[in-house]
Amino acid sequence: MSSHFETNAIRTQLPRTEENEHSTPMFLTSSFVFDNAEDMRAAFAEENDHNIYSRFSNPTVDELVQKMVVLEGAEAGYATASGMAAIFGTFMTFLQSGDHILSSGSVFGSTHTILTKFLPRWKVESDYFDIAKPETIESKIKPNTKILYVETPSNPGLDIIDLDLLGKLAKKHQLILVVDNCFATPALQLPMQFGADIVIHSTTKWIDGQGRTVGGMIVGKKELVRDIYLFLRNTGPCMSPFNAWVLTKSLETLSIRMEKHCSNALTIAKALQSNEQLQWVKYPFLENHPQYAIAKKQMCAGGGIVCFELKGGLAQGVKFMDALQMLSRTANLGDSRSIASHPASTTHSKLSETERQAVGITPGLIRISVGLEHADDILKDIEQALKISAGV
Ligand SMILES: Cc1ncc(COP(=O)(O)O)c(C=O)c1O
Repeated sequence: MSSHFETNAIRTQLPRTEENEHSTPMFLTSSFVFDNAEDMRAAFAEENDHNIYSRFSNPTVDELVQKMVVLEGAEAGYATASGMAAIFGTFMTFLQSGDHILSSGSVFGSTHTILTKFLPRWKVESDYFDIAKPETIESKIKPNTKILYVETPSNPGLDIIDLDLLGKLAKKHQLILVVDNCFATPALQLPMQFGADIVIHSTTKWIDGQGRTVGGMIVGKKELVRDIYLFLRNTGPCMSPFNAWVLTKSLETLSIRMEKHCSNALTIAKALQSNEQLQWVKYPFLENHPQYAIAKKQMCAGGGIVCFELKGGLAQGVKFMDALQMLSRTANLGDSRSIASHPASTTHSKLSETERQAVGITPGLIRISVGLEHADDILKDIEQALKISAGV
């Protein structure tokens, strides 16, 4: 293992097979054979490390997991079929009836649905804390609180939460600190260094980087990941070896891709700050971001997402989306192709105005996932769509 992220992302690999392949092979197989009954018995008894069945483990998936473990500075990991499977699987491993989970209010929509609609079915209660009032977090921890859950930066609001503060609170109250590191990736932020116990990813986003696969990842402390592994290998949300193969190749370029996504995003965020059609522009590394100091402390760059609020609200949001010529109108993010989305008319359209406000979705909020095209072209498309949508 090297002390350099780029080298580990490229050189963490399975031992070569007898074919001496250079690129990593894909083990597209659901199960593995044994030479004899004794070998098979020993594998099931975990007395050897033979692969048994790809719901439990698979060499291609293992390469990806090992890379993510090294890159996040974790001890162990398990890859899942989607980011939501990673989140739900982690919750269900550790929570039981009567438990409580404390989460930041700014979490991804499906995570919000799990916390508020599904977990109550199993009598697991949850509360949100306000990231603008970090001094109130501790008072929301209850005797039955098991998990402290955060997403930073958050989707889509780009809120930043102080991981150092949460790490200390989790330690003091013996909570499992779970961090969704999807927006930052390990190239920009390492939650384990601040005391996270578990780090979660939707690998669908920046880890894939070209919008090809849906997947998830859980890495963290060995004994906790062991519990997650035992729960998930029996309940079934494993990652396919094909997706793992795509993703392990993607990780080889993560650091260089993130560098460019971030520099493009900063250029665009700065240029849009003076745009007359906008009420505000939000980007973690812009000095006017409410948690700029925290972002600078825990991230090494601001990430690839830029948000802004249109002066013309919902109606202008719809027109803006229609006026785009190059940016893609699609639900994903973290792609080499720049993407625009308007949560109020799409992902959050079923919520009432009050519910939208509670989760930080303003009527004219646009989220741009800044791609790897030339920054001038991305900006040109956004600026022309702003003009048309404002009727200028
Ligand atoms: C921050 C965050 N966490 C989790 C997820 C869920 O991931 P997936 O779509 O891979 O299930 C997403 C998806 O957009 C996300 O943005």
